[in-house]
Amino acid sequence: MTTPFLSRTETLSLLSLTIACLCIIANTFQGDGEPLIASLAFSGIAFSSTYAMIVWLGPTFMKAGLKGKDMSKVHKKEIPETMGAVCAVVYLLIIIIFIPFPFYKDIVAATSGGGNRDVLKDVEIVQTGRFLHRFPHNKLASYLSAILSLQSVSILGIGDDLFDIRWRHKFFIPAFASIPILIVYFVDFGVTSIVLPKPLQPLFGMRLFDLGPLYYVYMAAIAIFCPNSINILAGINGIEVSQCLVIAFLLVFNDILYLLVPYPHPATDSHLFSLYMLLPFIGVSLALWQHNWFPARVFVGDTYCYFAGMVFAVVGILGHFSKTLLLLFIPQIFNFIYSSPQLFRLIPCPRHRLPRFNARTGFLEPSVTEWKEAPHPLVNWGLKMLDRVRLVRVVVDKEGNVVESSNLTILNLWLVWWGPRREDRLAMEIVGLQVVCGLVGLFVRHRLALLVFDADNLTV
Ligand code: UD1
Ligand code: MG
Repeated sequence: MTTPFLSRTETLSLLSLTIACLCIIANTFQGDGEPLIASLAFSGIAFSSTYAMIVWLGPTFMKAGLKGKDMSKVHKKEIPETMGAVCAVVYLLIIIIFIPFPFYKDIVAATSGGGNRDVLKDVEIVQTGRFLHRFPHNKLASYLSAILSLQSVSILGIGDDLFDIRWRHKFFIPAFASIPILIVYFVDFGVTSIVLPKPLQPLFGMRLFDLGPLYYVYMAAIAIFCPNSINILAGINGIEVSQCLVIAFLLVFNDILYLLVPYPHPATDSHLFSLYMLLPFIGVSLALWQHNWFPARVFVGDTYCYFAGMVFAVVGILGHFSKTLLLLFIPQIFNFIYSSPQLFRLIPCPRHRLPRFNARTGFLEPSVTEWKEAPHPLVNWGLKMLDRVRLVRVVVDKEGNVVESSNLTILNLWLVWWGPRREDRLAMEIVGLQVVCGLVGLFVRHRLALLVFDADNLTV
């Protein structure tokens, strides 16, 4: 980050975008509030404000010590970190300002205010007063609980960026942050059964299998998994934001599929809710992406990873499509399982596992863990086996003991498979992988699933 000023072109473009979006929002009041159009316009404002604030606040963040060294560059210069905090704050404010829009119609009807001022009120209505019992309080509860959960997790993220909280201390916090949305799920929806695949149905003698309270444990686990899995698929410029953008766009695509089916469809409302949460998220993330893509001018910080992961957990849980959500997290699930020997300390885990930068070639190479002592014979054997199937690269001494093994992340594995490459190329390839896996996941969800399940809820 060189100067805290926007260029003239940037200022003009952002200003025009903001003005256009404000006009669109003002226009939506003429109809039913048109929440989807308003949400798109709010996302435009979210983009321009985040973009500008990242530029303006860069030096302030540096001064406050929120900075990090870009390790994969020749000159490891320091740049502002924790820019995810800007995204989270702008996002939360936009979502809060947006609250009246999806309820505009209901507010007008419930309070007998605006809409039909020319219509005379019946005596009956005057006596019973406002129709607040008709207001969709459950939908409002979804919004408010989502905001509460996202705020809690953003505080955790900022705390982590400030104090580098230990893994074991911060691991469960997203589960506590998810309590508000789980309560709303319990009261509003409460479905804890899963549909059994056709071949298993005769075996259990039932179509639905009730997981009971375990279903809530499963949803809390999603809230833990999403933020943490994004945070550990990190370390090269742009990768955190790019993976989140891919997941968000694919979720939006999936939501749109549900808007195209004839209304009223039982799942339309929850997918609309998902769109209202995801569009501004895409707005703030695109702005951050512009600054974080190679060569990065800012880092996203843990705040962004936690906040983004929680946005996905919230829409997956309250939108009732947590299993579909997991299909879009295939690279993250693989990375999490692959990392587990290091996460659970079977294998030493250095503070950083990001790929190693070779200043001579300018390429990234797999980073390694050096074994100061010979590994346990079982670990030694396991590592050598994994090396044989090219799932890890090891260096062995004369006695056959592993002295060096590549760190267990998908980024390092990609470099083991395809050789050293430039940072942006690695990022693009992993993003490509995310797109392919996500599209396959959605295809499986809506097409192949019909082979093992009775129906796809898109077609019922
Ligand atoms: C997680 C990973 C760690 C990885 C780190 C990189 C686990 C258990 N932890 O830790 O292995 O090294 O993320 O984000 O898997 N950085 C760059 N270039 C980038 C992004 C980050 O050099 O494009 C460096 C910067 O020095 C930055 C630091 O990584 O300051 C951020 O690391 P941090 O997010 O604090 O690490 P963790 O999330 O704890
Ligand atoms: Mg991190």
